[in-house]
Amino acid sequence: MKVGLLTGGGDCAGLNSLIRAAVKRIEEYGWEAVGIRYGWRGLLDNDMVDLSYKSVSEKIGVGGTILKTSRTNPIKLKDGAETVVRNFNRAGLYALLAIGGDDTLGVASALYKMGLKVVGAPKTIDNDLSATDITFGFDSAVNEAMHALDNLKTTGESHDRVMVAEVMGREAGWIAAHAGIAAGAHIVLVPEEPFSVSDVISSVKARHNRGLLSTLIVVAEGARIKDSGKSFSKEGRIDAFEHPELGGIGQFLANEITRESGYETRAVTLGHTIRGGTPTAFDRYLATRFGLAAVDLIKEGKFGMMVAIHGTEIKSVKLEDAVSSKKFIDGTMLGVLKALSY
Ligand code: F6P
Repeated sequence: MKVGLLTGGGDCAGLNSLIRAAVKRIEEYGWEAVGIRYGWRGLLDNDMVDLSYKSVSEKIGVGGTILKTSRTNPIKLKDGAETVVRNFNRAGLYALLAIGGDDTLGVASALYKMGLKVVGAPKTIDNDLSATDITFGFDSAVNEAMHALDNLKTTGESHDRVMVAEVMGREAGWIAAHAGIAAGAHIVLVPEEPFSVSDVISSVKARHNRGLLSTLIVVAEGARIKDSGKSFSKEGRIDAFEHPELGGIGQFLANEITRESGYETRAVTLGHTIRGGTPTAFDRYLATRFGLAAVDLIKEGKFGMMVAIHGTEIKSVKLEDAVSSKKFIDGTMLGVLKALSY
C-alpha cells in the first residue's frame, strides 16, 4: 500500500522531523511512502517522489520541508478538488497525511468529506490552531525571535535607542507574546488588543523620564491601531486563501515615535528569519510524536482526524473541528503582557 505525505502553507522548522517519523512508521507497517511536492499543488500536477526512511533518516534537524510547500488551494480552482481525488487514485495511493495549518487542513477536511482517506498533522509557527495545545514550529520560531530580540536590546541600549521589532503573527500574537516575554521586551503589541500609538509614545517617554533611555517594543505584523482598526498589508498581495501579505506596522510605529518624541528609533522586521532555521529539540520531539501518531491513525482507519497534543498526551481530533476556530491570546496572557510592560 502507498501512503502520500504533503506539506502545505508556510513552512516551519520541524516539518522534516515529522516526515522522517511518518516515513519510518509507514515502512514499519510494510507500506510505501510517497512524497507529494509543493503541498496540494503536487496532487494537481502529479508531482510526487518516492520516499524511503534511508533518504530521510538524517533530516530530523534540517529546517524547512524537503517536500517543498505552496499556498495552493484546490477548492478554489475549477474542478480542483476532483482533480486532486482523481490523481490521488491514479497514483495508487491508499491514504494521505496532510501536514499544515488551518488552510491546508481545511482543504483536507473538505476532501475527506468527498471520500479521500486523509489524516492531518497541525503545523504553524503562529500556534493559532485551537484543537491542539501547541503546534510544532512555534517553539523554534519563538526561540529564533527571542535571540534576535536579545540582540536588538544590546544594540538599542548601546545607542539609547527605541527598537521596534515586527514579528510574524497574522491574527494571533503568540510569537510576539512568548518571544517578547522571554526577551524582556518593554512593550508587546498583539492583534488581539488594538493599541493606541499615543499610549505607546507616553510609555516610552515615561521610561525616558525614569532614566530608562532604551526601549524594546515587539509588535505582531497583524496588530491593529485602536479606533482606526488600521492594519498594514502590502498593496494587492493576497494569497489563495484570501490572506493579505502583512508588513509595515513596525516601521510606521517607529516613525511615529521619532516624530512625536524626537528619540532615536530603529525598526527591524524579523519576518521569515524566525520561520527558517533548524528546529529546537522540543519541536523535533513533538513533530516526531505527531508523525508516528498520524500514521497510526491511518493504520487504525481513523480518517478525517488530526493528531493533537493536550498537555503531554497525543490525542486525535476531528479535522472539521480542528479548523473551525482559531486560538487567540486570552485575557490572562494579555494581563501578563500588561504586567510586564513598563
Ligand atoms: O502562516 C504562518 C505565516 O508565517 C504567518 O505568520 C505569516 O504572516 C505568513 O505565514 C507569511 O506567509 P508567506 O511566507 O506566504 O509570505
